[in-house]
Amino acid sequence: MKIAVIGGAGYIGSHTVRELLDRGHTVKVFDNLSSGLEQNLFPEAEFVKGDILSEQEIKNFLNDFRPEGLVHLAAFKAAGESMLAPEKYSVNNITGSLNIINAAVNAQVKYFVFSSSAATYGAPKYMPVDENHPTEPENYYGYTKLSIEGFLSWYSKLKNMRFAALRYFNAAGYDVQGRITGLEKNPANLIPVVMEALTGKRKEMLVFGNDYDTPDGTGIRDYIHVNDLAIGHAEAFKYLERENKDLIVNLGVSKGTSVLEIIQAAEKASGKKVPYRIVERRPGDPASLVANPSKAFELLGWKAKYSDIDTIIETTWKAYQANA
Ligand code: WQD
Repeated sequence: MKIAVIGGAGYIGSHTVRELLDRGHTVKVFDNLSSGLEQNLFPEAEFVKGDILSEQEIKNFLNDFRPEGLVHLAAFKAAGESMLAPEKYSVNNITGSLNIINAAVNAQVKYFVFSSSAATYGAPKYMPVDENHPTEPENYYGYTKLSIEGFLSWYSKLKNMRFAALRYFNAAGYDVQGRITGLEKNPANLIPVVMEALTGKRKEMLVFGNDYDTPDGTGIRDYIHVNDLAIGHAEAFKYLERENKDLIVNLGVSKGTSVLEIIQAAEKASGKKVPYRIVERRPGDPASLVANPSKAFELLGWKAKYSDIDTIIETTWKAYQANA
């Protein structure tokens, strides 16, 4: 299948491009390189530099390529920042996505795979979180993702463009074959922050609270390896083509890991101590957020293979050492 990957120079985007290429798809990448990296691009996938905020640029790209499938991973994703600068998230995440959706309809794209997020659920009311859980996002980032799912649902009805919304939990790790090593710029997520503390890029990292109702008092999350995420995207295209039905599924591993457990795993993999300090909780953080991924298993036959914490940490440590 011909597949356009919007945001394909990014962390998850580049792993998804690699997986689709490995499966024999014809892939083209559209990215403005605002956070994506040229070093994450592959020669087998033609790259077009462009901005989703330019209706003309995204329209030209899709009209030239005319792909059957499209993956949309171009978005800002810092939940905390979205509460301080919602305007930025409205323009980039919502207007940008609507430009892509309209251009996709115009180019008669049949299958639209959307990078959604567990942030659509808000604070968990029960655990593990399944797709029937209420969607009451607690941050504006999560709201932008939920609103885009809503647009896609309408466009599926009105324009016959099938979609799959993949609700990621905590994406982590690096390509197990070491083919992708571009580091995120100014990361806020836990694991890259731990790595920057290990490599001396930052003096120390801060643990946001150790007084949660969890075994060691620190926050618990469902970390999913980015290779497993990429496989989930490829399986989603197979589902849309086979079933011609819309799909909303969690991509997580239903195993929770705490902040201190991540730090311990990083110290084991690196043989170095992580310099950290325990500080106040970060507003809006739930104590624990773990996925129930059984729907993805049933419908996509998808099951995480690389998401054990040691693989996640070791592959990340290797990527950071490759850039040292
Ligand atoms: C994980 C844990 C923190 C940094 C966010 C988005 C979510 C998704 C994934 C895109 C928490 C703790 C973190 C640090 C810390 N993004 N932490 N010190 O908040 O679970 O999810 O990224 O889809 O939408 O909200 O990820 O990595 O920020 O935090 O103690 O410097 O690590 O408190 O318990 P989060 P995170």
